[in-house]
Amino acid sequence: MTAPTIVLVGPMGVGKSTVGQLLAERLGVGYRDTDDDIVAAEGRSIAEIFVDEGEPVFRGIEKRAVHKALAEHDGILAPGGGSILDADTRALLAGLRVVYLSMDVEEAVKRTGLNTGRPLLAVNPRKQWRELMEARRHLYEGVATAVVATDGCAACQVVDRVLAVLAGGQWTNSPRKLQRVEGTGDLSAPAGALTCGAAMLSEDRLQRPEENR
Ligand SMILES: Nc1ncnc2c1ncn2[C@@H]1O[C@H](COP(=O)(O)OP(=O)(O)OP(=O)(O)O)[C@@H](O)[C@H]1O
Ligand SMILES: [Mg+2]
Repeated sequence: MTAPTIVLVGPMGVGKSTVGQLLAERLGVGYRDTDDDIVAAEGRSIAEIFVDEGEPVFRGIEKRAVHKALAEHDGILAPGGGSILDADTRALLAGLRVVYLSMDVEEAVKRTGLNTGRPLLAVNPRKQWRELMEARRHLYEGVATAVVATDGCAACQVVDRVLAVLAGGQWTNSPRKLQRVEGTGDLSAPAGALTCGAAMLSEDRLQRPEENR
């Protein structure tokens, strides 16, 4: 069975799709997003599925899409933001390279506007976002091998941070040791600065995590 090179998890709007595609380009691998898979298969937007079918039905569709992608895809994978609510999915993520992209509520306001099109944030979005993160933060951290803070970072800087973690070669799942990457160092320049692209990764560092324990 193939396994993704990196799985990106995190809340809605944190940049999984943006960072995932840039990361895939930099590593020369494919990018797959299970929300896109669902939209293509269903012929409806995620918001429409939520409204038409309700959240439990959507979570079932999402679970099947994520399990299929985990089995098939060997590049960068971005599962839907809520997919980690499912215990079977969390179990499947154990042993993979999983990066949790994090942000605080202020960054979430900037990224998403906390407005339309996101069914879980339809009413009182700031409060909803905080509650959502209270419920999910420990689940993201539980599946992650690394946490990369994205607050105040341009997407390409986030990519550099993920690559820096990878290049560090300290992926470990047993016992799980969570790396956190935030703030300072080579990657601390203002958003959009020319440090993007600084962290390079050679092919030999791209072993599967189980080869790297
Ligand atoms: N590091 C960043 N800095 C600023 N804006 C960003 C950054 N990453 C992504 N964005 C912007 O934030 C918005 C959400 O990004 P994106 O769609 O990649 O998030 P996502 O995690 O895939 O969301 P979803 O869970 O809804 O699929 C987009 O408008 C994107 O351009
Ligand atoms: Mg996305």
